[in-house]
Amino acid sequence: MTTFSDDPFTGDFSSLEPVQVFDPEILRQIYRLRVEAWIPNGIEREKFPGDEFRDDDEENPVYQHWAVMNQGMVLAAGRVSIHPTIEDAPAGDLFKYLDFEQVPPFGKINRLVVHPKARRHGLARKLDHVRLEIARAAGARTILATWARPTGEARYRMLEGQGFIRCSDFDIWHEFPIGMLTALYMPLP
Ligand SMILES: CC(C)(COP(=O)(O)OP(=O)(O)OC[C@H]1O[C@@H](n2cnc3c(N)ncnc32)[C@H](O)[C@@H]1OP(=O)(O)O)[C@@H](O)C(=O)NCCC(=O)NCCS
Repeated sequence: MTTFSDDPFTGDFSSLEPVQVFDPEILRQIYRLRVEAWIPNGIEREKFPGDEFRDDDEENPVYQHWAVMNQGMVLAAGRVSIHPTIEDAPAGDLFKYLDFEQVPPFGKINRLVVHPKARRHGLARKLDHVRLEIARAAGARTILATWARPTGEARYRMLEGQGFIRCSDFDIWHEFPIGMLTALYMPLP
């Protein structure tokens, strides 16, 4: 059962489940949460004028935003999208030159963030689960993901544990604002 406290970022989150986000105000919260999540992991606040981060094409409906919320506040969030060609996917210019079986359509998971106070409650795992199910249900044959060192080794192990396979050297591609990326994919039947 969820414990209610004055602070929505603390408590027992075991009963909270991800929901898809459409509300522009909640999307703004997600863009701000990215910055709050990245800064303790070593990414400089100066990179984020306005203390938020949104991709140029963020509001393209191809991106489904999912969030775990408590008392109206976003605790954790992530995106999933489906793309007919690899070039269309975020970081597609990285993936298209890599040597792995590129079977379309492609699912892409990215922009996973968990509020620093809400970590280690399984929220990233719940967001991965829902996003992978969406990609599967949409018929994706390959799911793409990237990993960057500020995210931590636990996140890398988590991706491998779910079936992702590394398909690039480590730290092969620079992307703002996270830094050097490593590419992974998961083939689906
Ligand atoms: C990386 C991140 C997404 C993990 O989120 P989280 O909600 O704390 O992760 P979960 O609680 O779902 O844990 C998932 C697994 O990783 C492990 N894990 C998570 N953080 C860990 C840490 N710091 N050290 C060791 N293990 C860790 C958990 O034990 C769990 O494993 P288990 O299910 O086998 O027990 C979160 O720390 C974060 O938002 N980081 C900053 C943003 C970022 O780098 N995002 C990545 C993509 S850009």
